[in-house]
Amino acid sequence: MNKVLVLNGPNLNRLGSREPEVYGTASYNDLVAMISVLAVTLNIEAEVRQTNDESELVSWLHEAVDSRAQVILNPAAFTHYSYSLRDACAMVTSAGLNLIEVHISNPHSREEFRHNSVISGVATGVIAGFGIDSYLLALRQLSH
Ligand code: DQA
Repeated sequence: MNKVLVLNGPNLNRLGSREPEVYGTASYNDLVAMISVLAVTLNIEAEVRQTNDESELVSWLHEAVDSRAQVILNPAAFTHYSYSLRDACAMVTSAGLNLIEVHISNPHSREEFRHNSVISGVATGVIAGFGIDSYLLALRQLSH
């Protein structure tokens, strides 16, 4: 079965209560449930994880390479400055695995520091601005 790791960076565990005007009212548990339901429909084995710890996120990307899993990644604030995360993402895509960068909001319509992603250049593709649906669109793409 197609295996997908859905990885989430810092503060995304606070979805639902964190700036709902930007990120919506769905909680992190709602996100996990929506992904799990769609994954069953698409016959994908999806595992959703979240961490506030950069090194843990890097380790999970190493795991994706070793287990040949595709990745949906919301790097959250790490998007804008984490070169260690970028290097780990590059390992995933250079191993021939898809890595889709997702964002709930559209970072390009927000503060200037959010306009640059150090991840996009090594991602297979980017989906941003569609709320929680950004993840579901990415999952559908990986089911092809
Ligand atoms: C985010 C956008 C980032 O700029 C921000 O730091 C986040 C969430 C998004 O999903 O819209 O934490 O990645």
